[in-house]
Amino acid sequence: MTTIIDGNEVADGIQDGIASCVETLADEGVTPGLATVLMSDDDASETYVSMKQRTCEELGIESYHHEIAPDEPASTLFDRIDALNDDPAVHGILVQMPVPDHVEKRAVLERIDPAKDVDGFHPENVGRLVAGNARYKPCTPHGIQKLLAAYDVETEGADAVVVGRSDIVGKPMANLFIQRDAGGNATTTVCHSRTKNLAEKTRNADVLVAATGVPEMIDGEMVGEGATVIDVGVNRVEADTEKGYELVGDVEFESAKEKASAITPVPGGVGPLTIAMLMYNTVKAASLQSG
Ligand code: GUN
Repeated sequence: MTTIIDGNEVADGIQDGIASCVETLADEGVTPGLATVLMSDDDASETYVSMKQRTCEELGIESYHHEIAPDEPASTLFDRIDALNDDPAVHGILVQMPVPDHVEKRAVLERIDPAKDVDGFHPENVGRLVAGNARYKPCTPHGIQKLLAAYDVETEGADAVVVGRSDIVGKPMANLFIQRDAGGNATTTVCHSRTKNLAEKTRNADVLVAATGVPEMIDGEMVGEGATVIDVGVNRVEADTEKGYELVGDVEFESAKEKASAITPVPGGVGPLTIAMLMYNTVKAASLQSG
């Protein structure tokens, strides 16, 4: 029987722990604050940001939401980031990606005070992560580590294969897997769009993380018998539903499930963990900044 990994249940457990940290901080007169900045008309981005705000409210974290029209100049966004960097009520700042093409992504990430960079995307925080001394682990890879731990999936000595090399998921995931800590110590392969014989590599994985953004690209033929499959993809594909689309992952769930020993569904797998770990980083930021 294949285990279907329940991301909502794992995230709920983590969020209970975060809620008690928020209470402890409240006793010290500190309310953690997260600023979200959206410079996009994209429906999916709007949905993600509103889910983050809602979870803040549930946990007693103050949420400060800022919207900037996508046709504004980059300087409008930079000025807003500067103001949030200077605001002591704001402990964490998240600029939802992607930003419009006329705004240079790297300049945005570098503008955020590294102490408030709860995404962990600032080069200083990336450097700390790579050095094995992370301040804020990027939320999705950190959440995947939590999922694997919750289901007793051993990474030590395992063959971990990450498909995708994004700054948000693929690169930090691979970095966490190669580190000596619990949740790491894996022999790690990173595959991408130029990888030769991809299926040969993915079939070798004990732990397979798919983060390509290509709907259902990994099918059962590409999954080794007994592997743990973690699907990071959230792709909207046209469908005859009320909304006109359905969500599918980067993995073809039905065929991959036949081979995997455990697999995450989409939705309800990795997504809830990304939000839980963002809350975790925000509370950590509040505690570092008030301590
Ligand atoms: N866009 C997709 N995932 C993320 C994320 O984890 N953080 C930010 N800031 N933008 C994203």
